[in-house]
Amino acid sequence: MTKLLCCALLLLDISIKWTTQETFPPKYLHYDPETSRQLMCDQCPPGTALKQHCTTSWKTVCVACPDYHYTDRWHNNVECLYCSPVCKELQYVKQECNATHNRVCECEEGRYLDLEFCIKHRPCPPGFGVLHPGTPERNTVCKRCPDGFFSNETSYKAPCRRHTNCSDFGLHLTQRGNATHDNICSGNSESNKRCGIDVTLCEEAFFRFAVPTKITPNWLSVLVENLPGNKINAESIEKIKRRHSSQEQTFQLLKLWKHENKDQDMVKKIIQDIGLCESNVQRHMGQANLTSEQLHRLMDSLPGKKVPMEDIERATKTCTSSEQILKLLSLWRIRNGDQDSLKGLMEALKHLKTYHFPKTVTQSLKKTIRFLHSFTMYRLYQKLFIEMVEKQVQSVKISCL
Ligand SMILES: *[C@@H]1O[C@H](CO)[C@@H](O)[C@H](O)[C@H]1NC(C)=O
Ligand SMILES: *[C@@H]1O[C@H](CO)[C@@H](O)[C@H](O)[C@H]1NC(C)=O
Ligand SMILES: *[C@@H]1O[C@H](CO)[C@@H](O)[C@H](O)[C@H]1NC(C)=O
Ligand SMILES: *[C@@H]1O[C@H](CO)[C@@H](O)[C@H](O)[C@H]1NC(C)=O
Ligand SMILES: *[C@@H]1O[C@H](CO)[C@@H](O)[C@H](O)[C@H]1NC(C)=O
Repeated sequence: MTKLLCCALLLLDISIKWTTQETFPPKYLHYDPETSRQLMCDQCPPGTALKQHCTTSWKTVCVACPDYHYTDRWHNNVECLYCSPVCKELQYVKQECNATHNRVCECEEGRYLDLEFCIKHRPCPPGFGVLHPGTPERNTVCKRCPDGFFSNETSYKAPCRRHTNCSDFGLHLTQRGNATHDNICSGNSESNKRCGIDVTLCEEAFFRFAVPTKITPNWLSVLVENLPGNKINAESIEKIKRRHSSQEQTFQLLKLWKHENKDQDMVKKIIQDIGLCESNVQRHMGQANLTSEQLHRLMDSLPGKKVPMEDIERATKTCTSSEQILKLLSLWRIRNGDQDSLKGLMEALKHLKTYHFPKTVTQSLKKTIRFLHSFTMYRLYQKLFIEMVEKQVQSVKISCL
């Protein structure tokens, strides 16, 4: 049955081709009164109109369409068609009329034809994305953003966008997005978060001056009292006290203070300087590129309590090569009652000679140390922050000792 149908269609197809080929130019039947015969006359081509039917001795005679007239197909009419008059309001001429084409009008950019009028495209509101942008013939098609997508703007073009995947940036999701809002991620320095460097070497270098040599029980409250700018609330201070060893508390507090006052000019400068310091340290450290074995040796060379094996292993897995030493130094510092990481690193460097570390490694460590030294000195004696705070803090330090 289907075979038969198939054959029949094939035959039909062939016959159509055969007949159309056979009848070009297209013909029409005409009764010739002189001979009283039915003749097959040629039709007239586009751009022309019929002037005289064919006879047994003459072919069909066609003439060009007059101005403002057209015919766009083969035919046997004695008249051409009149071109559409001037375009409507808010339309422009897309194609002028000529002998073979009618005039084409189109709505101006940003509008579409609805019955007789050019209507403005509709924009898609927040929560909706553009599925098909408007055309001169059709209005914009909007689509409600599905789960996992959002649009926070009123737009003629913007489709729904996928919510930012916070974990792709090493950040935490703090507020889940919906159709009108993107996910909100938190955590500032992405790689540091994943690797988990809490207080960086630069922050330590910057804030170390505030750590007293002997810590008294009320030290933190005294420091809070004397810091300029927005005060840190009691709840946050309690949290820091609960979570961190007494030595680490100073860094945590200053870090929080920096965050709470980040809009103040003085602090903006500090943040900028610390950022600059960090990119410098990353650059120097990036050249070290220690193997796992070298990292273990380096940690072995540090004085005081050792960082556990599993912590070293974890750091090599979660941190990039330039962050590994920094992470391990911060672990060592915390483990050793807030020793100065920089001094620790210098101490370790002395021992590295016996391990025959490659020159590139020791050199990049030395560069880092040298840089941090200059950074610390510069900060300590020249910056606004010091001028404003140190007097207060120093006097407090002395009175506490
Ligand atoms: C008439 O206009 C059409 C469309 O703009 C074009 O393709 C065609 O070449 C024109 N014909 C002549 C004779 O100008
Ligand atoms: C829309 O969201 C993007 C990405 O979260 C953001 O960059 C942009 O500023 C937002 N626009 C408006 C108008 O809220
Ligand atoms: C975010 O990306 C991670 C992989 O990079 C994937 O495992 C996770 O499912 C994504 N989360 C969402 C909400 O798409
Ligand atoms: C989408 O989230 C924003 C902020 O998170 C909120 O203001 C808004 O009401 C939410 N919209 C809906 C429809 O839940
Ligand atoms: C670090 O060294 C390893 C092999 O020793 C190499 O594969 C890797 O590309 C190096 N990385 C950088 C950042 O130099």
